[in-house]
Amino acid sequence: MAHQDSDINTIGLQTSSANHLADKLNTLLANYQIFYMNVRGYHWNVKGPQFFELHAKFEEFYTDLLTKIDEVAERILTLGHQPLHAYSDYGRISTIEEDKNVAGGEDCVRSVVKGYQVLIELQREILSLASDADDEGTASQASDYIREQEKTLWMLNAYLG
Ligand SMILES: [Fe+2]
Repeated sequence: MAHQDSDINTIGLQTSSANHLADKLNTLLANYQIFYMNVRGYHWNVKGPQFFELHAKFEEFYTDLLTKIDEVAERILTLGHQPLHAYSDYGRISTIEEDKNVAGGEDCVRSVVKGYQVLIELQREILSLASDADDEGTASQASDYIREQEKTLWMLNAYLG
């Protein structure tokens, strides 16, 4: 059966698939936002003999997270939807929880590992949905993030020994 015009959005994807993907991307965005602020907290609060290396490494991570936050939000817009833009929504939706007053170097790194694991799992789900919907733009973004963050996990686990 032929689809009516309204079933196809401006970038040629089925509207129902784009709606579903935009919802999943908003969940991903919420997790990125909470994780971003957690990593800023580790950057500020970490103490101990690894202070200088971890302080700098956490800045590298949160700077990259901020770039991806903007890219995920703009992908939602590209799909024809509105990105969530209130912390109250992020806190309600995010699986990653706010993490306060963590100062031990290894504790901070373990929490960063857990955060990236959540992001990777969500992105794998999005990659699969996007592939089924022939949404190459969302799929390639998700697969780039997964590859980069898997490498980060290898390095963080190597750091933890
Ligand atoms: Fe700083």
